[in-house]
Amino acid sequence: MSPSRIFITVLSIIVGLGVSIHFLTSLVAPTSQDPAVSAYDLTLPRTPSDAKRLQNPIPVSSEVIAMGKALYGGKGNCFVCHGQEGRGDGEGGSMLNPPPRDFSDPTFQHLRTDGEIFWTMKYGIPATGMFSYIPRHLSEEEGWRVVHYIRALNRNRQSSELLLEKQ
Ligand code: HEC
Repeated sequence: MSPSRIFITVLSIIVGLGVSIHFLTSLVAPTSQDPAVSAYDLTLPRTPSDAKRLQNPIPVSSEVIAMGKALYGGKGNCFVCHGQEGRGDGEGGSMLNPPPRDFSDPTFQHLRTDGEIFWTMKYGIPATGMFSYIPRHLSEEEGWRVVHYIRALNRNRQSSELLLEKQ
């Protein structure tokens, strides 16, 4: 084999390998196992199963929702990304991937338990802009108040809307 033949053969093997590696990686990413993708799919659990069963120890009232709202829009900093009404339209959220979701969405409210929302606030969600806020910014008790406020944002939940209107 002439040197130029060897060169061309080696070159085509390298190029061929490069193309196949590129093709194979495009097949495996992204999948539903990719944290950034699964984080945005509402139907996939994003917390351990015991988180689902945690109960909100604080009974709901218009006062508690008002306190939760003040924490959410104050030292909790939640509004920065999630928006004051929880529509996912906070300024800090506009650059994030996945972006913060809409808390007023009845499907979100239906699929997530209080425990899951609390767990998310305590431990954050890997590979998203959601960090841990308990106990760094909020105590556990304050966290549960914020959960009541997030519940009140459900656009289908009349009782909470009534509670909010009273303020
Ligand atoms: C720096 C931006 C940022 C801040 C501040 C922030 N979050 Fe998040 N949050 C996110 C992103 C991004 C996600 C992942 C996308 C999603 O599910 O909304 C998320 C997810 C969540 C979820 C999970 C939604 C689900 O699908 O289960 C909850 C609940 C939540 N945040 C509540 C809060 C609360 C309460 C605070 C304040 C204590 C807060 N977040 C502060 C960016 C933020």
